[in-house]
Amino acid sequence: MIVCSCQHITSRDIHSAIDWMRASDPATIITPGRVYHALGKRADCGGCMPLFLSTMRRNSNLAVPAELTGLRQRPQRKEHTA
Ligand code: FES
Repeated sequence: MIVCSCQHITSRDIHSAIDWMRASDPATIITPGRVYHALGKRADCGGCMPLFLSTMRRNSNLAVPAELTGLRQRPQRKEHTA
């Protein structure tokens, strides 16, 4: 199925790119921009983004690596001892 009509990117292209990126670097964060880059293309009108993202989310290799999932936790406050 064509996902991005400007760049002629199919759902199969997106899944292949995600699978390749995950196999190449298990710790990588996969974004739409990186998928475009992996395919040697760049977004044009951006009208495909909702479908592009939902296609990406259906790929089981998209998940953020476990070791990186805690990066957004707030730092622990230091208690002052005086
Ligand atoms: S449809 Fe994908 S950039 Fe235009």
